[in-house]
Amino acid sequence: MANLESLASLAAILILVLVEVAVLSSFAAAQLRPDYYANVCPNLEGIVRYSVKQSMVKSPISAPATLRLFFHDCAVMGCDASVMIISPTGDDEWRNQDDYSLKPEGFQTILDAKAAVDSDLQCRYKVSCADIIALAARESVSQSGGPNYTVELGRYDGKISTTNSVMLPHVDDNLDSLNSFFYTLGLSQIDMIALSGAHTLGAADCGFFQHRTRGKDPSMNPSFDAQLQGTCARQNFAFLDDVTPVGFDNSYFKLLQNGRGLLGSDQVLYTDQRSRGTIDYYASNQGIFFYDFSIAMTKLGKVGVKTATDGEIRRDCRYPN
Ligand code: HEM
Repeated sequence: MANLESLASLAAILILVLVEVAVLSSFAAAQLRPDYYANVCPNLEGIVRYSVKQSMVKSPISAPATLRLFFHDCAVMGCDASVMIISPTGDDEWRNQDDYSLKPEGFQTILDAKAAVDSDLQCRYKVSCADIIALAARESVSQSGGPNYTVELGRYDGKISTTNSVMLPHVDDNLDSLNSFFYTLGLSQIDMIALSGAHTLGAADCGFFQHRTRGKDPSMNPSFDAQLQGTCARQNFAFLDDVTPVGFDNSYFKLLQNGRGLLGSDQVLYTDQRSRGTIDYYASNQGIFFYDFSIAMTKLGKVGVKTATDGEIRRDCRYPN
């Protein structure tokens, strides 16, 4: 009986904490708006747009790496650029196994954009790294052919980054696990599927999908299976969307319809009847995918946003001030 009571009060405390976190983060998110820097850095979007463009010319990895960086930033401790922090003790997010595959080109794209912003005297040290990541992610999408959605701004940078805080979805997660992960961020199954469409860009190391080949995963198309065995014999990666790897479009969803999803967590969205309809919808209508993707990115961009009370405008994105 005593046990039941303590369980009940534990549950009550947990609910209270969850409600408080939700209320606090919705307050914090409420400050975001597209014209946040209109007075202090009126040309911010143009500066970031041009800088990202140059990064994309330098490397085709820049856009996918930057887009993924935004997700990994927002999903851990909120969109606060904590993923960029290099800690002298070695205890930071990027050194967690789940972040280790983030490509240097993504970090460099942000550092270059920040340098470009700070080279404008009016803007210097006034724009947060978290907002630069959000803008650079949008540029990576739109300059790859995807939607040019409006980015809400006004995030502060976090001061903390720890290895243990990193909790991210995994390649063999089923639909329920994916849903529950995104649900904790305040995102729905539709948001999760639309955001997974980010896998229209970039690549994955063979270690993430090779265990599905050689007939081990019946949801994989046999000719794709053979193709991947050849690819991984030659190189250590394959494109997530091998039709248009550098183009942001809906071909990722068409590939899923044909059993050609690279990661288990991609293909399961088609295998599971509960999400298949959305895949078919996006595969047949790129405009709807772009629309839902823009909404989901905007929602993702509101997760755990910091304010002046618990954040700062970092001068160097790699180190708290
Ligand atoms: C649904 C759960 C997800 C899982 C399990 C997952 C997992 C992965 C893995 C394993 C890779 C390959 C990394 C490598 O080998 O370097 C990858 C790449 C990528 N992911 Fe995800 N991801 C998920 C969701 C997302 C979301 C929500 C976004 C963005 C909105 C995203 C954007 C990307 C991009 C753009 C790449 C290519 C990166 C590159 O080429 O450097 N992913 N993802």
